[in-house]
Amino acid sequence: MKKLYIVANWKSNKTILQAEEWFRTINNLPVTFNEEEKKVIVCAPFTLLSKVKELTVNCKLSIVVGAQDVSPFDEGAYTGEVSASQVKEFADYVIIGHSERRSNFGETEKIVELKILQAIKFNLVPIICVSSINQVNDKWKMMNGKFIVAYEPVFAIGSGTPDTPENAGLMAKKIKEILGDTDILYGGSVTSNNVANFLETPDINGVLVGGASLDAQEFYKIIQNS
Ligand code: PGA
Repeated sequence: MKKLYIVANWKSNKTILQAEEWFRTINNLPVTFNEEEKKVIVCAPFTLLSKVKELTVNCKLSIVVGAQDVSPFDEGAYTGEVSASQVKEFADYVIIGHSERRSNFGETEKIVELKILQAIKFNLVPIICVSSINQVNDKWKMMNGKFIVAYEPVFAIGSGTPDTPENAGLMAKKIKEILGDTDILYGGSVTSNNVANFLETPDINGVLVGGASLDAQEFYKIIQNS
């Protein structure tokens, strides 16, 4: 039985009160699945990392904290950046190179690489997002750390039109051919109705969920249906 990653990407959403409400809802739902088989990660904005960490401690469901970005530099004079050593105080995972960062914030391959190095240096597991096979870099294997890759085609993100499970599975297989036995997630319009189709394919090890993770009930259904 492969261990599945169910990863929420809250993006630039939620206040502290809304995060508390989300966890309250999760806590009121019965755990009807085997937690051992599923690793649930919530990637929250920096402003919520401390609160989410605190909320996970008393949560009925075992949830691990992730961040959505990290500085490409060590701590120091980098106004506005949050260093990997700071993120590590709250999180164990970090999303790196999401297509929204590549397109809106000019994140280049070089910056992505520096961020991966920082994450690994401080024991954060990078969840490296790629939207095509061209963005997969076999250098990542040489970085001496565990990492996860999320295949997220741009057309599928937030559109309500996911990739087909066949194509996503094929992409996951191709990524593994380049990187070896790495866990591969699929992301892009995942919902409780389609999640199982992606996870049935042999090379997909989990999902990265944006919009549908904001609603606690729907995210819970995604975990249940995984
Ligand atoms: P979506 O986003 O589930 O809203 O399509 C996924 C992502 O961008 O990680």
